[in-house]
Amino acid sequence: MKILGIETSCDDTGVAIYDSTEGSVIHRLASQVNLHQPYGGVVPELAARNHIGTLLPLVDHILKASMDHHSGIDAIAYTAGPGLAGALLVGASVGKSLAQAWDIPAVGVHHMEGHLLAPMLDADPPDFPFVALLVSGGHTLLVDVESEGCYQILGQSLDDAAGEAFDKTAKLLGLPYPGGPAIARAALGGDPERFHFPRPMTQRPGLDFSFSGLKTFARNTADNHTLDPQTIADIALAFELAVAETLGIKCLRALKYKKRDRLVVAGGVGANQRLRQHLQQLVSDSRCAVSFPRPEFCTDNGAMIAYAGYVRIKLNPPLVERLNTDAAFQVYPRWNLEAI
Ligand code: KG4
Ligand code: ZN
Repeated sequence: MKILGIETSCDDTGVAIYDSTEGSVIHRLASQVNLHQPYGGVVPELAARNHIGTLLPLVDHILKASMDHHSGIDAIAYTAGPGLAGALLVGASVGKSLAQAWDIPAVGVHHMEGHLLAPMLDADPPDFPFVALLVSGGHTLLVDVESEGCYQILGQSLDDAAGEAFDKTAKLLGLPYPGGPAIARAALGGDPERFHFPRPMTQRPGLDFSFSGLKTFARNTADNHTLDPQTIADIALAFELAVAETLGIKCLRALKYKKRDRLVVAGGVGANQRLRQHLQQLVSDSRCAVSFPRPEFCTDNGAMIAYAGYVRIKLNPPLVERLNTDAAFQVYPRWNLEAI
């Protein structure tokens, strides 16, 4: 089965074709970073308008790169939520319209299920069950994954998501959007001894997170110092270490609580090298395993959406019949992962 995946939930236009028979995937991404950079963050209206201009040419491009004709595509998967309403509507309407024209089903998938399943695109995918840490710009979730489609949320952020905290901290340090990669770059020259940031909510039991206090701590530190390049690097490093260690403590706690021996880390912040190294060390010290998607599949992409669509169709074949005839579509800017 060949699935065309469409991702437009935020500021990346992603398309991909996943071939379940061969287990292969090709993907293309058009980033909107340059468009939003002058504003220091994503402008929803600009994001939606840009998806409109970019999506169809990108679909055309990937079809030409992969096969002679769209007749090889068996289904379309598009991100139905959560995300920016206008941006989601572009992917949903294009996905649904192409499916009607080509007489194939279109399935709306949950963006975070896409992130969660992204490691399955690897040549050596992790076995179920596992605990997943999903860290993106909009969500921080610890999820127990019994099998495909069987998810229990163990913990989540009570305020800012991890990626959001990276973005806001970068902004107050005068670093460009997107903040995660900018903080990571700045932190390379940081002195780990200069500042120590708190590890929020690690002293009390539970698996929820809170990152807004960390951002405030960074702001207070920045306000009390001259922001020369070395101080920016030192604050960036202290922040990055605090996020990595806080996430690590909660991951170990979740593995222990669910008696699992495998951790999967996905979402944009999962591309962070310091976080990867820290979790790798921590988890192997506890005789567990950790898997990360390749960095390009940690951040938003069409491949994870194509794969999640394939899983949705596989789990519920009668759905396909209905999707084939149903012209209606809906997007869900807020959508609980456990509700799918
Ligand atoms: O998953 P994603 O691409 O989009 C959402 O679903 O939100 O995640 C984007 C987030 C942004 O907050 C970005 O700053 C962060 O992931 N990010 C990183 C890195 N690359 C992206 N954070 C830390 N280190 C990185 N290397
Ligand atoms: Zn995402």
